[in-house]
Amino acid sequence: MEAEIERVLLRREQIAARVRSMAAEIADVYAPLDGGLTLVPILSGAIIFLADLIRELPLKLKIAVVQVSTYPGASTKPGDPRVLIELNGHLRGRHVLIVDDILDTGRTLQCVQARLAAESPASIRTAVLLRKPNADAALADFVGFDIEDRFVVGYGLDYDDHYRNYPHIGVLRGELL
Ligand code: IMP
Ligand code: MG
Repeated sequence: MEAEIERVLLRREQIAARVRSMAAEIADVYAPLDGGLTLVPILSGAIIFLADLIRELPLKLKIAVVQVSTYPGASTKPGDPRVLIELNGHLRGRHVLIVDDILDTGRTLQCVQARLAAESPASIRTAVLLRKPNADAALADFVGFDIEDRFVVGYGLDYDDHYRNYPHIGVLRGELL
């Protein structure tokens, strides 16, 4: 995989340190609130971020996954708005924190937020590890890193479902896209 990465943007140690400090920011917000917390990771990109984040969160919480398809196959641009949201879990009256790997145009988060709002949760917030400059900054309540507008892979982020297991976050060589 290494040969297919043009440049490493964030090394695993740097990511781990930021995930720990994000967890502290998140805990500060939710610890004083009454009622249960449910984290809603957007599959599959959020799985590694989620796994690391929850182990740094000293809070009682549940997980309800959503599956969204916006980038079918090998495309790197939003295709047709083929948004398929499958929710597993009950959110009524709960504090919901949507967790995603990256905020780009914001379409994914907006769709998921709208879908989850229909479940009558007590609150909805969003946490993303990465944010690109195109995004409406206000869409994410918790942000790990602001990055440049390049296609990145690793730490859960994929290209055509590959590279999710690359431990750092790197820019994929342009000729592979
Ligand atoms: P948005 O709907 O444009 O905000 O895009 C968010 C979704 O697109 C994320 O959940 C990612 O799965 C995917 N995505 C956007 N940019 C990248 C990238 O640079 N690498 C890998 N996936 C990306
Ligand atoms: Mg994704």
